[in-house]
Amino acid sequence: MGNSASRPLTQVTGGPAGRTCASRTSGITEYMGIPEDRSLDSTLALLRAEGYCFISNRCRRLGTDVFATRLMLKRVICMMGGEAAAQFCFPGRFTRRDAMPQAILSFIRGGAGSVLTSDDEDHRRRKEMFLAMMSPEALERMSELTTRHWRAAVRRWERMDRVSLFSEAHIPLSAAICEWSGLHLSEAEVRERAEEFEAMVEGIGSLGVRSLRGHRMRLRSELWMRQLIRAIRSGRRAVPAGSPADRILSFRDRKGRLMDLQSAAVELLNVLRPAAAIARYVAFAGLALLGYPPWRARVEASDEDLEAFVNEVRRFYPFIPALGGRVLTEFTWRNHHFRQGEWVLFDLYGTNHDPRLWEKPDEFRPERFLNRQIAPLDPVSHGAGNRRFTHRCPGEWMTVDVMRTIVRLMVNEMSFSLPAQDLRIDLSRIPTLPNSGFVITRVRQRVEPLRLAS
Ligand code: HEM
Repeated sequence: MGNSASRPLTQVTGGPAGRTCASRTSGITEYMGIPEDRSLDSTLALLRAEGYCFISNRCRRLGTDVFATRLMLKRVICMMGGEAAAQFCFPGRFTRRDAMPQAILSFIRGGAGSVLTSDDEDHRRRKEMFLAMMSPEALERMSELTTRHWRAAVRRWERMDRVSLFSEAHIPLSAAICEWSGLHLSEAEVRERAEEFEAMVEGIGSLGVRSLRGHRMRLRSELWMRQLIRAIRSGRRAVPAGSPADRILSFRDRKGRLMDLQSAAVELLNVLRPAAAIARYVAFAGLALLGYPPWRARVEASDEDLEAFVNEVRRFYPFIPALGGRVLTEFTWRNHHFRQGEWVLFDLYGTNHDPRLWEKPDEFRPERFLNRQIAPLDPVSHGAGNRRFTHRCPGEWMTVDVMRTIVRLMVNEMSFSLPAQDLRIDLSRIPTLPNSGFVITRVRQRVEPLRLAS
């Protein structure tokens, strides 16, 4: 796979990671008090060359936390770091409307009336609905469903020569989240949905075939969901009272109106798709278990170590590179006046690797999370700030719980081998994975210790 100077790679297996975000910035001037990248347009540098390092490369080179550039021919202010997070996640300061042109990098789908693109009181009401889904009992149920569907998947994988863990993990995760949401699907339907959810996330951050396929799969998925909702609303199909699907379909806005068909479909998919996307963290967790053997023993022995390991996986490995927002309430920071409507990108990956926030940020060290109260910026992989009043992910606890459940299952109940493959992570690809997708072989219900390689 491409390993050239323009393609930053991180080597993560078998030892400490070395991150190689090379700086390639040129042509800098000042823009209203902050440095400006004068390139005509940096979209290709972001999507084809520098990927996750795009913002942090420039910040490091310029000795700044904030600079201006152009993406998709539009001016954008990029920022990173702890202070930038506090500014970006200050309640009411930014809207997510029109914050990601042509949906590049957009993970949670917006659109009129969705939680992501709503603001103020409308957002608070809608967000309340999502947060109410995440009671301790509901999260416990999601862990149980994940366990049941994961075990069924392992039985299937035992009969397969090669298992691409990333792709395959979408199936038990999709089965679990659909059932958790109140939607009982056939096995064939689950597979179709899993394929769509995977393709939709794979399509972000691309301008080519991946993006087209992601778009096609999104249309297919939304069509399926609209048909399903029509069937539920007309009484031809039932969902359990109080289930997430029921909550979304019976949600009323300030004027007492139900959601229209398209908004309800988008919101329900905003629960299903990101839960299936935990598959990416599953692949990274598998990689970390094999790359850092002492942690395999530690997560087996201690719940605190398991939690620290999971938090380090979501800090260390690249997933969502940046968040986009448009200024709603004007403010001044670092000599720059952020005008209403100005487009801003906040760097999640760079902030999760900022040496001012993390000691030895490019090393995988779960112990950093031991005896540490999780603060609003710890880590910023799911957004930052107060969940109720900002767009911080309502599924963060679920993500952590599901990852804990699956890591436990991988360590306690599975054995598998890792054939020779390219496990380097190409940071120029958004979203990224180990180059060979993390293939495992000889999967067995655990009868012997986890093996490192065939
Ligand atoms: C794979 C793991 C996940 C990651 C990395 C992730 C990441 C994020 C991030 C970064 C945001 C903030 C977006 C922004 O501020 O613009 C967000 C928002 C959101 N996430 Fe997640 N998420 C994950 C899992 C989940 C799950 C499991 C659910 C639901 C069950 C979920 C539902 C949502 C929703 C509805 C929003 C919008 C919240 C709002 O606008 O207030 N996510 N997610």
